[in-house]
Amino acid sequence: MKTRITELLGIRHPIVQGGMHYVGFAELAAAVSNSGGLGTITALTQKTAADLSNEIAKCRALTDRPFAVNLTFLPSLREPDYPGYIQAIVSAGVQVVETAGNNPARWLPMLKAHGITVIHKCTSVRHALKAQSLGVDALSIDGFECAGHPGEDDIPNMILLPRAADELSVPFVASGGMADGRSLVAALAMGADGINMGTRFVATREAPVHPRVKQAIVDATELDTRLIMRALRNTERVLTNPAVERLIEKERRLGANISFSDIAPEVAGVYPRVMLDGEVDSGAWSCGLVAGLIHDIPTVQELIDRIMSEAEQIVTGRLLPFLDRPAAA
Ligand SMILES: Cc1cc2nc3c(=O)[nH]c(=O)nc-3n(C[C@H](O)[C@H](O)[C@H](O)COP(=O)(O)O)c2cc1C
Repeated sequence: MKTRITELLGIRHPIVQGGMHYVGFAELAAAVSNSGGLGTITALTQKTAADLSNEIAKCRALTDRPFAVNLTFLPSLREPDYPGYIQAIVSAGVQVVETAGNNPARWLPMLKAHGITVIHKCTSVRHALKAQSLGVDALSIDGFECAGHPGEDDIPNMILLPRAADELSVPFVASGGMADGRSLVAALAMGADGINMGTRFVATREAPVHPRVKQAIVDATELDTRLIMRALRNTERVLTNPAVERLIEKERRLGANISFSDIAPEVAGVYPRVMLDGEVDSGAWSCGLVAGLIHDIPTVQELIDRIMSEAEQIVTGRLLPFLDRPAAA
């Protein structure tokens, strides 16, 4: 399939793997890129810029195809070493960066000065327009369905994608709720140039996370995610579990008076325990509504091949016959 995104990124299929904390390691990124999509290493999971350099080198050894690095800008007590991470990206010759979490203005010039293709992920048309005006090459439009941070506007992709298509001139991928060939065709129909997936890629054989995490996603339905941290204006969509329900109870009790320290036991330092040790109930971790569409743990290659053949079957087998009207008398 050829779209503006496959052309821009030099990939075979219009399928991108979004950055994922403690999931986006070299193994997964390389598997996605080797299967014809764009894999992504998550910078902030690497403790230092030197660790990121090593992870990029590891990915290079596993694939000769393009892959990306995700740079996430979220509120934090101590700002991560963004200049160091960017230096590691530039020195390693990484061609694509996914920015997310906040306005990329501060870091964009450094990336663009080195010819890096920047895909900015955001959750509203106004933020997308802002990023476009700053000079990003593409956008990842993340609907309310998404795992992680859906923003505060709560606009699902059925509305957000056509709105984005009406306003944007740069190519964009549809993110949030994407799982299969139906998602891909629907996204293309609404004006996107491809799809970005997070949760679906966690439940694959190559995702370097504990098997209990993958099984929790397979077991979950579309009713099993919760929105947390709304009062802090840092909303996150996560999989429910006893820790998350405890956190929500605190949010109910404390209302607008809540502060980060009140919920730190359920959110701080949770990712390594969940993803590496398989303690899936130990705190809050991102998961999308799309869990309701995930029923298996295929290899990345099987998943991507299945999406592409299903998409072709939908276009030629389901949609084209709808146009098959009898000739006018
Ligand atoms: C476990 C997990 C961790 C994530 N961590 C990050 C992150 O660190 N930075 C980021 O930009 N997005 C992160 N995301 C969001 C994904 O990149 C992607 O935008 C989102 O999953 C799309 O929604 P979907 O899960 O419905 O496909 C994460 C998603 C998951 C499932």
